Amino acid sequence: MTATQIRQAFLDFFAAKGHTIVPSAPIVVKDDPTLMFTNAGMNQFKAIFLGEEPAKFPRVADTQRCLRVSGKHNDLEEVGIDTYHHTMFEMLGNWSFGDYFKKEAIDWSWELLTKVYKLDKDRLYVTYFEGDEKEGLAKDTETYDLWKQYVDEAHILPGNKKDNFWEMGETGPCGPCSEIHFDSRPDNERKEVSGAVLVNADHDQVIEIWNNVFMQFNRLKDGSLQSLPAQHVDTGMGFERLVRVLQGKTSNYDTDVFQPMIQFIAEKSGRKYNSAAKPGDNDWSEAVAMRVMADHIRAISFAIADGQLPSNNKAGYVIRRILRRAVRYQYQYLGFKEPFLNQLVPLLAEQFKGVFDELYSQKDFVQKVILEEENSFLRTLENGINRFNNYFINPDYINPNPILKRGLIKGSNREELDKSLHDERSVDNEIVSGSFAFELQDTYGFPIDLTELMAREKGWAVDLKGFEEALQAQKSRSRAATSIDTGDWVVLKDDDKVEFTGYDETETIAHVVKYRKVTAKGKEQYQIVLDKTPFYAESGGQVGDTGELVFPDGEVIEVTDTKKENGLIVHFVDKLPEDIDDALTAIVDNEKRNNTNSNHSATHLLHAAMKQVLGSHVNQKGSLVNAEYLRFDFSHFAKVTEEELARIEAIVNEKIRENIALKEERDVPYDVAIKSGVTALFGEKYGDKVRVITFDDTFSKELCGGTHVKATGYIGYFKIVSESAVAAGVRRIEAITGIAAENFINEQSKLVQQLKELLKNPKDISKSVESLIEENARLKKEIEKSILEKSSGLKDELAQKVENINGINFIAQKVELPNADAIKNVAYQLKDIVSDLFLVLAADIDGKPNLTVMLSENLVKEKGLNAGNIVRELAKEIQGGGGGQPFFATAGGKDVSGIDRALEKAKSFTA
Ligand code: ALA
Repeated sequence: MTATQIRQAFLDFFAAKGHTIVPSAPIVVKDDPTLMFTNAGMNQFKAIFLGEEPAKFPRVADTQRCLRVSGKHNDLEEVGIDTYHHTMFEMLGNWSFGDYFKKEAIDWSWELLTKVYKLDKDRLYVTYFEGDEKEGLAKDTETYDLWKQYVDEAHILPGNKKDNFWEMGETGPCGPCSEIHFDSRPDNERKEVSGAVLVNADHDQVIEIWNNVFMQFNRLKDGSLQSLPAQHVDTGMGFERLVRVLQGKTSNYDTDVFQPMIQFIAEKSGRKYNSAAKPGDNDWSEAVAMRVMADHIRAISFAIADGQLPSNNKAGYVIRRILRRAVRYQYQYLGFKEPFLNQLVPLLAEQFKGVFDELYSQKDFVQKVILEEENSFLRTLENGINRFNNYFINPDYINPNPILKRGLIKGSNREELDKSLHDERSVDNEIVSGSFAFELQDTYGFPIDLTELMAREKGWAVDLKGFEEALQAQKSRSRAATSIDTGDWVVLKDDDKVEFTGYDETETIAHVVKYRKVTAKGKEQYQIVLDKTPFYAESGGQVGDTGELVFPDGEVIEVTDTKKENGLIVHFVDKLPEDIDDALTAIVDNEKRNNTNSNHSATHLLHAAMKQVLGSHVNQKGSLVNAEYLRFDFSHFAKVTEEELARIEAIVNEKIRENIALKEERDVPYDVAIKSGVTALFGEKYGDKVRVITFDDTFSKELCGGTHVKATGYIGYFKIVSESAVAAGVRRIEAITGIAAENFINEQSKLVQQLKELLKNPKDISKSVESLIEENARLKKEIEKSILEKSSGLKDELAQKVENINGINFIAQKVELPNADAIKNVAYQLKDIVSDLFLVLAADIDGKPNLTVMLSENLVKEKGLNAGNIVRELAKEIQGGGGGQPFFATAGGKDVSGIDRALEKAKSFTA
């Protein structure tokens, strides 16, 4: 079976068992503060498990793109080194939301694996949870008994909390699980050592392929387990592993999922991929590098396609680090000194066509972003290598220690070596210090193993322990800076869905259903969830509403922000109400909301106008909509010209004047909406029912959850205030509407009015400014000319004043010139016509004394005179200082009255 057939067989199997097949959620998570990237198929159903949202279907199945590179589930360092971990992988999953439980899950997984995929039963092992006393959890005998119908008891293994109790993160849904493992070793090996002892023992041929989780609990912040309102099934099968097993391979990379990519890399690098290479083999590093690239390009491409650009913080930084890891491998082991990674994008996009089309539709954009990242990292890498080489030139560090060197070269026990290096680093200098290794990583993106490798080439070692300390110190610094302590929810009322009333009203009577305390930067705040609320929670670029919660006793609690968290609408407040059980009136700040509506609707008009003017490749890449302005980031490869901006602006304003009524359709089936030609955004999680916002069926139709004006006329006026670049292939437009636009225009016309008045009301202001500029230039030239004439007259006059003292032609005069340049000019001219010259010129330039000393070269050489020393001495008379070269120096000062004294003093240097 090909990978494509294997995936389809899974979906078909569960569809036949009554499951609705749903699309993968984006890989980038937006509404869950505990998670940056989707790390399991169940993430998109978290709110259902927690009872915060009802399930739309009792049974679903899908293939979900996942990323395990941060937080609780992090496989990054294994990737490429081994053959069965990945950054991005597909998780095939089936779910029951309070519907079927253990029996069906187990029956069906066995049926699929052995009847449809026809896996050898003899090679399969299953596990069950052995229980955990500390947690108060019993042994899962039910699962054991269910497996016993199908599986030999020797193949049913107990597992502890680490392996058989699955948790999404530090908090969140969890439950006991049952894993299915496959032993792909040759028969002779299997005879010698039973697969049972190799399950969950990091053996690369005895690997877990499927995990069936029986969701029953919610892990709370305080570590305790809370029972979920219902029991669910959550399963996840590693697609790439399944394909490997079914295709009879011993490495995921040998399947048709990765081979096309690996062969392309091998060909372009002029090397062969040796799947069987072992550590220490000549081609080991090359094989690792090819696997790293074939793997990482998937994570990077899908993250970018889902809206996460590489950047310097949070999720963007994780993507940048993965990208850099890939670039470093291709650079170091495959000889790619120029960008290459980006060339894998078209191949990948083609491979996922029909599975995850997000990539194919944006492949040029994704490739361009990666290319630019590669370019900039290669520059950083070069700077880092220079920095590294300079480090070795520093004489402080030359102090060879042959013992350590020998240990290092032989590759002696790594741990012991690290320890001895650390303990001796203060006396031994043939070690790259931990802090320098950290600097290389922090500033130049050098992973520690690169630094180690480069050091080793010079026969040096790296103080890994010191590096680790520096790293930890930074981590705890940043943790302290951003630390937010979120308490557990205190539930007052059970409610299975929060109702949002804000599309229809801005005031709603409601009750608090739960609250929690949050401590951020030492400040205590509270978060409140209501059963009904008109407050819009930040999403889709639109900021969260602010406003008030008004209680019957007159108490008013201010809402400072509103955010979404999984299925909840969370109101941020500074304190809890006295009577938290009372009915309250939730009132949104209307003025702010209305201005925000204008900016949001204007964003839709802008988006549509841009597609008209710039082309259909324009896709939203980021958006901010608040009461003050709108910011719209979009994919486009060139600067938007003034002319294009003017056309875009004109179209939007025309649509505003048409006063098009808002058409808002709720609960439109997703497929129906897409067929009608709506603009859907990449990286957004849409349900099966969507909301469609239309302004004129033939103009703007978008999937959107935001709030809008009732008709475009409310926007009033639209004005673009800036256009700029934000990243490779991404541009940004900022614009304002309504009152803000009116104020902006008023300011501009006031400015024009002021200019007009200053210019004495000319008919054409630009013409009159132009002629002012011309006149100014002409006058400048004239002044320069007249100074030149004056200084040449002055030169002749001064030459007459020469006094010959001891073979020195001495001139000391006060001159009237407008600036230092003019004086310098005269001095140089005099030097050309007077030999053995010792010239001192003094001037009063706009009330400040100025001294210039010029000496003929022979006086400097033969008589030992020095203009710099002389001018410094003379400057004392004018309360100033200065300096310059031995033959020419100048000084400025404060006291004009000292000029004569300075000139007098000059003579003394001729003696
Ligand atoms: N959520 C489970 C896992 O990721 C299925 O392993």
